[in-house]
Amino acid sequence: MKRKIPAMIALLSALGFAACIGTAVQAETKEAASETDTEDSDAESTAPGVFNFETHTVLLNSGYEMPIMGLGTYSLSDEECYNSVTALLEAGGRLIDTAYMYGNEAAVGRAVRDSAVPREEIFVITKLYPGEQFADPEKAIQDALDKLDIGYIDMMLLHHPGENDVKAYRAMEQAVAGGKIHSIGLSNWYVDELEEFLPQVTITPALVQNEIHPYYQENDVIPYIQNLGIVVQGWYPFGGRGHTAELLSDSVISEIAAAHGVTSAQVILRWNLQKGVVVIPGSSNPDHIRENLDLFGFELSDDEMERINALDRGEKHDWY
Ligand SMILES: NC(=O)c1ccc[n+]([C@@H]2O[C@H](COP(=O)([O-])OP(=O)(O)OC[C@H]3O[C@@H](n4cnc5c(N)ncnc54)[C@H](OP(=O)(O)O)[C@@H]3O)[C@@H](O)[C@H]2O)c1
Repeated sequence: MKRKIPAMIALLSALGFAACIGTAVQAETKEAASETDTEDSDAESTAPGVFNFETHTVLLNSGYEMPIMGLGTYSLSDEECYNSVTALLEAGGRLIDTAYMYGNEAAVGRAVRDSAVPREEIFVITKLYPGEQFADPEKAIQDALDKLDIGYIDMMLLHHPGENDVKAYRAMEQAVAGGKIHSIGLSNWYVDELEEFLPQVTITPALVQNEIHPYYQENDVIPYIQNLGIVVQGWYPFGGRGHTAELLSDSVISEIAAAHGVTSAQVILRWNLQKGVVVIPGSSNPDHIRENLDLFGFELSDDEMERINALDRGEKHDWY
């Protein structure tokens, strides 16, 4: 994804613009829905952290644009992963989330290279894992570049806090300086972890990726991260495998879906977007992949957003 003007970002950050992200997301949503003044909307789209519901992208604090919906590849085999990424790209999706730990970086890279979509339109996220990778991060970064084989990495995250995480992050900072990685960030960092970590590093993370779904909403953590000028991305949007049936058949979500003539999955993803949370649902089913990109023909009302917010029960579906 292309780079925007860093000076503008620095200026807006200095003016405390990041503090307005939550409000701006709402404003942008309403503006896009009413399809009014496009000049205003173009101007706002240059503000970091604000979701642009016309281009389906957000401008990161690194100066790069990232799509606001895409595909997660956790637990997909090589073949499933290749086919899913191919289906995503053919359907117009441009954001892919992988990780060393998923064992499918090479399949992601192959699908990207085989696609007719120009490389610069695609945004690939991968992650370094604690342990050996954090202990020798330069090698781990080079391994990821080699496995993906797509020239550069759009975004690299640290998968979890752990021993040597500051060292690993600093290596990613060096790789940014060397042009190997465009943007960097964190995954599974919450308020306490961020308060301890951020003073030790130079580049503010562009993204934090954490568990977020209607039964585990992180309503305290999301605004904290957004107010730092960092974009939030949610994992397990449907609760993760083993939990999706309960979430997708939830009576509140199903009612709202019926009212809009869409699916429960689309309502959950749209609820995320309207909260300013980027979505990366996992799927090996091309029909689901297409459905999960089709999020812009309806808008949830304030009342519907509140009804889904009320489903929060602090129910984490994984240990990290
Ligand atoms: N940073 C981290 O620590 C972390 C942890 C976990 C996950 N992640 C990332 O987050 C992504 C999302 O999480 P996830 O894939 O584990 O779980 P998820 O997205 O909550 O759920 C995936 C499940 O939902 C189903 N599904 C997808 N779209 C659907 C639709 N439209 N209708 C009905 N069912 C649908 C999929 O089945 P089908 O295959 O049949 O579509 C799959 O069984 C991961 O793939 C990974 O990239 C990150």
